[in-house]
Parts: sequence; C-alpha cells; structure tokens
Amino acid sequence: MKISKIMKITGIGNYFPKKILTNNDLEKMIDTSDEWITTRTGIKQRRIAAEDESTSAMAAKAARKAIKGAGLKPSDIELIMVATITPDMNFPSTACLVQAEIKAFNAASLDIGAACSGYVYGLSIARAYIASGVYKNILLIGAEKLTSITDWTDRNTCVLFGDGAGACVLQPGYTNSGIQSILLGSDGRKGGLLYIPAGGSKMPSNQQTVNEHLHFIKMKGSELFKVAVTKMTEAAVGALEMCGMTPDDIDMLVPHQANIRIIRAVGKKLKLSDERVYTNIEHYGNMSSASIATALNEAVIKGRIRKGNIAVLTAFGGGLTWGACVIKW
Ligand code: ACO
Repeated sequence: MKISKIMKITGIGNYFPKKILTNNDLEKMIDTSDEWITTRTGIKQRRIAAEDESTSAMAAKAARKAIKGAGLKPSDIELIMVATITPDMNFPSTACLVQAEIKAFNAASLDIGAACSGYVYGLSIARAYIASGVYKNILLIGAEKLTSITDWTDRNTCVLFGDGAGACVLQPGYTNSGIQSILLGSDGRKGGLLYIPAGGSKMPSNQQTVNEHLHFIKMKGSELFKVAVTKMTEAAVGALEMCGMTPDDIDMLVPHQANIRIIRAVGKKLKLSDERVYTNIEHYGNMSSASIATALNEAVIKGRIRKGNIAVLTAFGGGLTWGACVIKW
C-alpha cells in the first residue's frame, strides 16, 4: 500500500441558514447600535438557524457538497469528524448524527472539542490518520448553532455570534501541494475567560442554572483580545517555520473570525496588506469552528486562493486553544 505523507483538501462545501439578523435588528432587541457593533467588531449581520435546524442538519448540508466536490459517494467516507461546541446533544456525537443523515455507513465518527480552533485541530487529526495509512477518505466539518448558546439579553456577547457550517474532504496527495504543516497549542489555565458554566457534569442543569442564564456563553472579551492577537500571530509564524517559510510567503491568511480588530492586528504583525487577509465576519459574525472552515472554502470558491498559492489558517478560541496550518493549494 502506498502511504502519502501529504494530505490534500479535495472537496469543499458551505452551508448558511437563510435567516439574516442585522445590526439594525439587534438595535430593536438590546441597548446597542449598528455603529458600535461595526466599529468594535466588524460585524454587520449574522445568520440564524431555524428553531428546528440543528448543528448536525447544517453540517450534513455542507458535507454533501464537499463529498460531491471530491467526486466521492457517502459510502466512500471512512472517518467523519465534526468540530463543534454546539452539538445537537451531549451524545450521540454530532458526527454520528451526520453519518446517519448522509448515509455514510462505512465511516467511524467522532466530535472534536477545541472550540474555535476545532477545524484546525481536525485537520491535524486527519493528517495523522492519512500519513499513517489508516484512512484515505476523511470528512471534516466545522459546524455551529452558536445562537442556541447565546444570551440574547447580554449585549457584550449576543452581537458577536452566528450559525453555519463548512466541510471538506481530505485525501492523500501525491504531489507537493496540500497541507505543509500544522501547529497546535492550548492553555487550560485560562479556560475561565470563555466558557459555559452549567449543563455539564460539574454543574448539571437545574432551575437555578436556567434562571441565572448559566447555559450561555460567558466571555471576558478584552482579556481574550490580547491573547488572541499574540497566539494567532505566533501560531502562524510557527507553522510557517515548520516548513521553511516566513510570513512573506503567505498569499492568503485565513484567520478565525472573532473580531475585525483582532484580524487586522494579526495581519499588521505579519506585515500583510488587507488583500492578503480573508474575512467573512461582516456577513456571518463569529461562527466558532465554522468560521475558518467557511472562510477558507469561500476564498477558494471566489478565486481568492488559487492553485499554487500558500494559504495560512490561524485559529484561536475557548480552552484556550490555538492552531495554524500552512496549505499549498
Ligand atoms: N453595544 C454597545 N455597547 C457595548 C456593547 C454593545 N453590543 N457591548 C459592550 N458594550 C460597551 C461595554 O458595556 C463597555 O461600556 P463601559 O465602558 O461603559 O463599561 C464598552 O462597550 C467597552 O466594552 P469592552 O468589552 O471593553 O469592548 P471591547 O472593545 O473589548 O470589545 C469585544 C468587546 C468585541 C467582545 C472584544 O473584546 C473582542 O472581540 N474580544 C475577543 C473575543 C475573542 O477573541 N473570543 C475568542 C474567540 S470566540 C470563541 O471561541 C467562541
């Protein structure tokens, strides 16, 4: 059996729910303004999943497109991974629910819990399986229904998040294009900066946790801001160094879409012009693990990343976790 050390993205697919919530809509719900949200975050609107539209349903829609794009059938998929912090339920895993939905019955299935860095963590897991020859056809999805864990009475957080899903199929490559390097990191000591207090084994749900809004995202935004800029920059530089490159080699940076000011600060540190930094935060807000997934796919679909280009993904999120990936397209 020929084992390839190079992994390629051979199919991509995005899905966004239809409903759009604009900043002007939010002005009618909480004490905020389009001007504040736009200047402080870069977000103009976000998509909101329908009440009966779960994370797995969105993931399955993105997955079908990616599998078709790769020229495969669902039955060819050997491993399904879903990066998400908004699983349909604690178990079964969202990946198992996607498997049933798309009828990929030959696949093993698992979820990845690395918050906004989940998609980059997923690429790294897939790469290990492909480099060891264990699997050849892997489906990776970043999918989130963040609006289901958003406190719509908290203006500090509710303006930030949106729903969506991005997927790709990963296969061995036999040329030098594909994933060149991946660097991951985490700091569990700072987990309290971004978390959901209740609903897990530490603080099971009860009437009090519901009354106190403890099932929603709690975030220390300004403290996270500084760590995000530092870690996303360091991760990108580190991943480039791993394959003998520097930020000068970047054709397109695809950063996690938490805040346009974070994105610009990272771009500035890497000395990249705005044209070399891809954003979709203005249309979709922060979709956690689905942000990098959908942004990368969009950049490829729009021709902003072309054959031979060097794309660098750099992610940061709850955990804290971070990670970067260098791809020769
Ligand atoms: N509308 C109007 N005013 C607001 C709003 C709002 N929606 N939200 C907050 N404010 C006010 C605050 O009350 C505060 O007022 P005060 O000075 O009178 O107290 C003022 O605006 C400034 O608040 P800050 O929190 O200091 O604002 P900041 O400039 O830091 O922006 C933000 C907040 C957007 C959250 C920013 O800190 C951020 O993006 N942080 C990083 C987030 C991040 O990286 N998260 C990790 C990834 S996400 C994930 O893993 C799911």
